[in-house]
Amino acid sequence: MIEKRLFEILPDGRKVHCWRLSSSDGAGLTVMDLGATILSLEVPDRDGALANVVLGYDRAETYLDDPHYLGAVIGRFANRIAGGRFTLDGTEHRLAVNDPPNALHGGVTGFDKRLWHGNARTTDEGESVCFTLVSEDGDQGYPGTLEASVRYTWTQDHRLLVEYAAAADAPTPFNPTQHSYWNLSGASSPDVLDHLLTIAAGCYLPVDTNLIPTGEFASVSASPFDFREARPIGRDIEAAHPQLEIGSGYDHCFVLDGSGFRQAATLADLASGRRMTVHTDMPGMQLYSGNFLGPVANGRGEETLRRRSAVALETQFFPDSPNQPHFPDAILRPGERFASRTVNAFDVVDN
Ligand code: BGC
Repeated sequence: MIEKRLFEILPDGRKVHCWRLSSSDGAGLTVMDLGATILSLEVPDRDGALANVVLGYDRAETYLDDPHYLGAVIGRFANRIAGGRFTLDGTEHRLAVNDPPNALHGGVTGFDKRLWHGNARTTDEGESVCFTLVSEDGDQGYPGTLEASVRYTWTQDHRLLVEYAAAADAPTPFNPTQHSYWNLSGASSPDVLDHLLTIAAGCYLPVDTNLIPTGEFASVSASPFDFREARPIGRDIEAAHPQLEIGSGYDHCFVLDGSGFRQAATLADLASGRRMTVHTDMPGMQLYSGNFLGPVANGRGEETLRRRSAVALETQFFPDSPNQPHFPDAILRPGERFASRTVNAFDVVDN
């Protein structure tokens, strides 16, 4: 089922709409056109009880000042670009610096703060909404006009498909991601430290003190970064490891094994039985353990925005790729059509 409604009128008069996409058992998600944001996502536990498993705010207006990017689509470039600058085909470009000294998540007015155009329809795969946005030439310092879309589809068997597409009239970095924060016990539960996480990655990208990758591919072996077998997120999060100290916990991009569309991660909460499995065609996934989350006025119950109360698993190209030639190429060129898919599938595990 698809239901659309007016969500809120912003102080400047713009209307924000939201859509509910649900399967016949009532599971599903609510998304809004501001930031192409996931507001809530309800899935059953092992007894069939639905709970919302993503952090969010009550009011659309709160998202305009949100420093945490709750549930939003990030663009043009997820994660950090060092010094807010890069050189492309011999020309240096300077970006809006919103996380000094770096550009973070698209800049001061990234895609998360933009009002997208939403269009809902039922497809062969499920109930879907496609959001489109035109990012003008020079937007936040990025070159060329870029037309982007993200389509959310909810299937009867509880899969969330997130499909990105884009084209540009000049070469530009492009690296979209979905910035939902997950807590499978329910978004008002205290933390995710007991959640079991697997990540299909033999390497991760160590960072410098500005959270920019050093360029090294470090093995996860015998380190707190080894999630090849399920381990609780909290098991080693306070370990005396220099990378955990820099990030105040996990805030690192993992180099996903293999290529093409493949399994990237699983997240499971044994208490409720809820499990999420992530597949993607992207080369990396940022694990962000909500280290800087804190109370924000108008949160859906301030307690839901505590430190480490939820975890983000952001499929993406590697951070700072425009400045690191040995990283996978994140430049979209005229005549190319960008297409990428990430799927979050929900089911339950036995005790
Ligand atoms: C980044 C964090 C950043 C957060 C902003 C995450 O994707 O990895 O470093 O603080 O977004 O809320």
